[in-house]
Amino acid sequence: MNKPCAPSCERNQEVILDVLKQIIAPADKHLLEIGSGTGQHAVFMAPNFPHLQWQISDLLENHSGINMWLNEGNLDNVSAPIVYQSGKSEFPDMELDIVFTTNTLHIMSWKSVEIMISQLSENLKKGAKIIIYGPFNYNGQFTSDSNAKFDVWLKEQETHRGIRNFEDIVQLMAENGIRLKQDIEMPANNRILYFYKS
Ligand SMILES: C[S@@+](CC[C@H](N)C(=O)[O-])C[C@H]1O[C@@H](n2cnc3c(N)ncnc32)[C@H](O)[C@@H]1O
Repeated sequence: MNKPCAPSCERNQEVILDVLKQIIAPADKHLLEIGSGTGQHAVFMAPNFPHLQWQISDLLENHSGINMWLNEGNLDNVSAPIVYQSGKSEFPDMELDIVFTTNTLHIMSWKSVEIMISQLSENLKKGAKIIIYGPFNYNGQFTSDSNAKFDVWLKEQETHRGIRNFEDIVQLMAENGIRLKQDIEMPANNRILYFYKS
């Protein structure tokens, strides 16, 4: 098996890292990444936060690719992948300061989004940070033609996929005791939604 590579990670990792540097504090010790994909983001970003243990997670089928990146990266503060698939798995039993996820909410079904957010509510301590990167619609409208085309493509792959509405995510989070702190514009019609457990 060749080491998997996600070109999108290489395009967006610098700008996401810049935002993480503003959000992650020295007191933050444990981060869970949901839907790590290839693991590239962890390998690129974790060395910038040596005080933080970065726990990778994804479906089991992605672990061998992730391990190739980890073996090459040889990083002390990135932990070997664990299985987490919202809708199918229990939430990882660990103390967490931050949950970080990129490009996952439009991939998992809406039901899985709902389950993940209720699990975040049940498992995170007060003040924990939740950082979500990806494309979002506002008031049901695409923010660009490219996002509209991307949404068509997503639904051709799997009917349950699709770009989520910002307002739906904020409302669902609020119903679960999680508040929006910042909505940050990112390049290429993406956003970072930064929430905290209240
Ligand atoms: C588009 S990829 C994004 C990967 C990586 N975060 C990135 O930005 O390149 C979506 C990831 O979400 C994972 N995923 C799909 N359904 C999931 C679920 N229900 N719970 C957690 N992760 C899921 C997939 O296995 C895949 O790795």
